[in-house]
Amino acid sequence: MIRYKILCVDDEEMMVDALKLELVNNISSDIIIETATSAEEALLIVKETIKQKDHIILVISDQKMPGMTGEVLLAELDKIIPDSLKILLTGYTDLDAVQYAINNASLFRYIQKPWEQEDLILTVNQAIDKFNTKRALDEKTQQIMKMNEELEEKVKERTTQLRDAMKELEAFSFTVSHDLKSPLRSIDYCAKYILEDYADELNPEVKKMLTDIRSTCENMFNLINKLLLYSMTAKTLPELAPVDTDQLFRNTYSELMTSVENRDIEFIIEEVLPVVKADYILLKQVVNNILSNSIKFTRQKEKAVITVKCEKDENDYRFTIRDNGVGFDMKYASKLFGIFQRMHTQNEYEGSGIGLATVKKIIDKHGGQVNISSVENEGTVVSFSLPIRQ
Ligand SMILES: Nc1ncnc2c1ncn2[C@@H]1O[C@H](COP(=O)(O)OP(=O)(O)OP(=O)(O)O)[C@@H](O)[C@H]1O
Ligand SMILES: [Mg+2]
Repeated sequence: MIRYKILCVDDEEMMVDALKLELVNNISSDIIIETATSAEEALLIVKETIKQKDHIILVISDQKMPGMTGEVLLAELDKIIPDSLKILLTGYTDLDAVQYAINNASLFRYIQKPWEQEDLILTVNQAIDKFNTKRALDEKTQQIMKMNEELEEKVKERTTQLRDAMKELEAFSFTVSHDLKSPLRSIDYCAKYILEDYADELNPEVKKMLTDIRSTCENMFNLINKLLLYSMTAKTLPELAPVDTDQLFRNTYSELMTSVENRDIEFIIEEVLPVVKADYILLKQVVNNILSNSIKFTRQKEKAVITVKCEKDENDYRFTIRDNGVGFDMKYASKLFGIFQRMHTQNEYEGSGIGLATVKKIIDKHGGQVNISSVENEGTVVSFSLPIRQ
């Protein structure tokens, strides 16, 4: 068990005994009072105490002693037992010694001789309190530091596990998607071959079935290609360069509109969009996915309106793409950035639910954030931010 001590040092034996008596009678009986009649003896006692793994709460030393003086002793002890408190007993004219002890021994207090009993006991009790509070605080700090270390270790471990799992999944989806393509190509090729070369011998029902097979194959090709793009995105590190987003939005919209017929869409860019630092190919996928959704989900509107704007704050550009389409119930919105999550059925609106997952992955990689909000039958707003980079 650790023992706690107070060390009293005075070259006059009578004085040190009187001091001990005062303390024994007035402070907690758990604390052992040790005495020394010289600085050298005091140093020996301290060393022995450390060896025994006991603690010295407080050293009270007389200032005037032959050989090593009190303030020098306390300064020496401060190097060995910095956590222990130190009190200097002084005469009226020893202010230099006090100053020295304050500077070199982190002196707790000085008491003038002859001491007032009340003053002495109060000061010693304050020193004991201070020592105990500091010890409790140190223990708590140690505990917190240990918990923190353990937590960091756990987070590191989990992150590695997660990263490995992600890598595996990405590799898996890449391989599977890739390998699925060739059997699919064979099926499509067979159907095409039969349809072309045996056209005369096929009755309309078989022809219809073969045509259905071909269109299903095409849908699957599209899905696999999107999956491949998604897993490629996961692997790619963005190559940042200036991208003119005004051009990017306008060109992507025009490209998408080449395969859209009989639609009345007003496409508005509110103000010229900025040049940002981003990966052009990845950002094009973002714009492509968001605009293709806006075009698709405004299909039922007689007149669709798609508006793009960009705001700049201290750290980010924030792009907002608003449409007046079919919208969706926000209750399920949090899932939409996950893969294969859709709010509408295939019959209503075709799609595979990979677009927004790809958008999120790309924006994450650029250090930005993406959001979607919607009101059913009124429209949808997608926004994403990109950090401003020099
Ligand atoms: N502008 C929008 N208006 C209404 N619903 C939207 C809009 N954008 C996304 N959604 C909803 O979020 C779902 C997920 O979008 P996402 O782009 O990931 O998939 P998709 O368009 O269905 O398929 P894909 O993009 O893979 O071809 C959509 O199916 C739709 O339900
Ligand atoms: Mg989409």
